[in-house]
Amino acid sequence: MTDYDTILVSTRGRVGWITLNRPEALNALNSQVCAEVVAAATAFDADAGIGAIVLTGSARAFAAGADIKEMESKTGLDMTMGDHFGGWGQFAAVRTPVIAAVSGYALGGGCELAMMCDIILAADTARFGQPEINLGVIPGMGGTQRLIRAIGYYKAAELVLTGRVMDAAEAERAGLVSRVVPAAELLDEASTVAETIASKSLPSVFAAKAALDAAMETTLAEGLRFEKQAFAALFDTHDQKEGMAAFREKRAPGFENR
Ligand code: CAA
Repeated sequence: MTDYDTILVSTRGRVGWITLNRPEALNALNSQVCAEVVAAATAFDADAGIGAIVLTGSARAFAAGADIKEMESKTGLDMTMGDHFGGWGQFAAVRTPVIAAVSGYALGGGCELAMMCDIILAADTARFGQPEINLGVIPGMGGTQRLIRAIGYYKAAELVLTGRVMDAAEAERAGLVSRVVPAAELLDEASTVAETIASKSLPSVFAAKAALDAAMETTLAEGLRFEKQAFAALFDTHDQKEGMAAFREKRAPGFENR
């Protein structure tokens, strides 16, 4: 396994784990974190032995945002020409479902990173927000766009314009998180969810994620067209025949990821 400085990477069964590990900066997302998370996620994505990825941080912070100290002295041109957060697009584009297991702060880029994942499990200690307005900027890793799609315009606008931070219960009511669990159970719960997904047929999991992504990005008509094609294509897989035969024969399916 490649050595990383800012993340811990491990594999448990068919689940790939990425743990943000810059405790001295509450897992602030600098360029190195971005490059390493992208490298680890891309490697898992290319591995047919991996069926789900968990992205987590520490008990105190999932991530307290983009690294303010790294950005502070940059000019507008630097940010544009360097495409400062561009690398994160590669993380958002992985085919494999990613579960964000969020404990503590998920602020700014941390909240935006969680929103690039497919499922957000939150510890009851989690705090979500887009406080960039307090720094004289705005969200820059997708916050103004993904937050509206997740929780609606008015709630998102209040958070982005005031910088107010939500606790886990409010985030769940708003629809930002899939589920809230006691902090001590967060990683076990993330593991269970990831193993459940990884036990399914990979082609159908990839198709499901792609169709869900399409719903975020296209019109209803285009999304329905995409879903229809993806659904039909799965009927040429071994695992569709196996899954439906197993149902008829009242037994567990033996998926072969093909
Ligand atoms: N960037 C760089 N360093 C950060 C950081 C960040 N986003 N967040 C925390 N740190 C560092 C602190 O500077 C501090 O380091 P030092 O000990 O060297 O001073 C260390 O992490 C611990 O932080 P605090 O002492 O501040 O811890 P706290 O418990 O008192 O407060 C906090 C925690 C409320 C999360 C506070 O750290 C904070 O407000 N952080 C910044 C949150 C923020 O504004 N995030 C948005 C960043 S901009 C962005 O993300 C743009 C985008 O859209 C991509």
